[in-house]
Amino acid sequence: MSSNLRKPLIAGNWKMHLTLAESVALARTVKEGSANAPGEIAICVPFTALSVVAEVLKGSPVKLGAQDLHWESHGAYTGEISASQIKDAGAQMTLIAHSERRRLFNETDAAVNKKIKAALAAQLIPVLCIGETLEEREASRTFKVLQTQLEEGLKGFAPTDLAPLVIAYEPVWAIGTGKTATPDQAQEAHLFIRKTCSRLYGEAWASGLRILYGGSVTPENVDSLMSQPDVDGALVGGASLKPVGFLRIVHFQSPAGAKR
Ligand code: PGA
Repeated sequence: MSSNLRKPLIAGNWKMHLTLAESVALARTVKEGSANAPGEIAICVPFTALSVVAEVLKGSPVKLGAQDLHWESHGAYTGEISASQIKDAGAQMTLIAHSERRRLFNETDAAVNKKIKAALAAQLIPVLCIGETLEEREASRTFKVLQTQLEEGLKGFAPTDLAPLVIAYEPVWAIGTGKTATPDQAQEAHLFIRKTCSRLYGEAWASGLRILYGGSVTPENVDSLMSQPDVDGALVGGASLKPVGFLRIVHFQSPAGAKR
């Protein structure tokens, strides 16, 4: 299943952290330290930091992302932010359906589907997050959960519409817990995701689809995760806030020829 078409992507998710001054400083460090990295790099920052970080990243290949969006283009939705506003602030991508959104803010697969549509319409790269809870894994429901999140989240698109889409497999039990999935567990889930996407939208699209792993990625475990044939990158939370560690992750080393 491995494909030469898939350029690795390492994305940081800053969540609800950092002041504007801290955001500017960290973005500068990422920009300056990312030369010669093996893949693409992105940082997904709080809405309030988008435009200042966009200014820092101007002219750099480091992509800027938001962490969520509303599916409508504008209107009376107090407190929400639209895809076009995110784009206007200088971002090129957005996370969608992070498990913290699903769990703490009751985000449904139907809402996720509308958000993906809105992101694509605004030419933002959607990074769709999916993953099972510990309870679901222990009940052997991991594949069923992933399948439903994919089928419902990706309902009604043409494969050509979905060309920019990225998927992040983030087992909920591994997020912020220090319990990383083993490389084998990650590979097993990623392969299942790719096969499901192949069934939904065809082999050609699925073989070019980038699937990131997220959940307690660190400088210590990134190389072994990235060595798996279907792991095309990482979505990094806590460790993306630490400049030295994040730059080590960005410069991951996977055995030559294992994937690309
Ligand atoms: P973590 O978060 O790396 O801190 O586990 C990952 C994520 O939530 O995207």
